[in-house]
Amino acid sequence: ALHAFDGGEALAKALSASIAGKLREAIDARGEALIAVSGGSTPKRLFEALSNETLDWSRVTVTLVDERWVPDSDERSNARLVESLLLQYKAADAEFMPLYVETPTPEAGIGEVRARVAALKQPFDVIVLGMGPDGHTASFFPGGDRLSEALDVSNTALVLPMRAPGAGEPRITFTLPVLLQARSLYLHIQGNDKRDVLAQAEQPGSTLPVASVLQAKRSLDIYWCP
Ligand code: 6PG
Repeated sequence: ALHAFDGGEALAKALSASIAGKLREAIDARGEALIAVSGGSTPKRLFEALSNETLDWSRVTVTLVDERWVPDSDERSNARLVESLLLQYKAADAEFMPLYVETPTPEAGIGEVRARVAALKQPFDVIVLGMGPDGHTASFFPGGDRLSEALDVSNTALVLPMRAPGAGEPRITFTLPVLLQARSLYLHIQGNDKRDVLAQAEQPGSTLPVASVLQAKRSLDIYWCP
């Protein structure tokens, strides 16, 4: 379903309330909740709104959908964003599981990341995706080196190192099958340009990476504003 808003503030408030409701439901049902969020610039307001939601954050584990392979002192780090904007106020008690470990490459750190992920109780209650203007979501970049592996629904790897084409930093990402088993999956996008990309991705046969999510997850909730 598409939920459209006039601006980022209203969108963040509504999306935050919806996510908080799902986290409360999970805590009521199972005593704990697991959420993975995306980075980039779009989620900043969402993180601020979420940090003020009333729920038992001590029962919530937060992790990332994907991460740039940089320490959290680097401003490109998604962990840094979550730590500075989400894990404060009421959400300060949440447990955070970063994806980056201190190794020079994601390939060198992947064993440790997989061990951390394996220790989580799957599946995710909530996953929030973003989308880039090139139609990427998570770190599934068009032309990415391991794209077909990441999008392979029979892949049991859970997390993969990933390189975007061009000069971008190496990354690590959860795979498509992990995203699809989330109890609630959200796509959070802002901007008219991205609405056009979304329309392209919704065309049957689209090969944009985000189209793999749209085609496979009918219950996806898209939150959009100009
Ligand atoms: C990341 C992401 C990525 C992001 C999109 C949108 O770490 O970059 O998880 O998939 O959601 O690139 O990013 P913007 O919000 O910055 O446009």
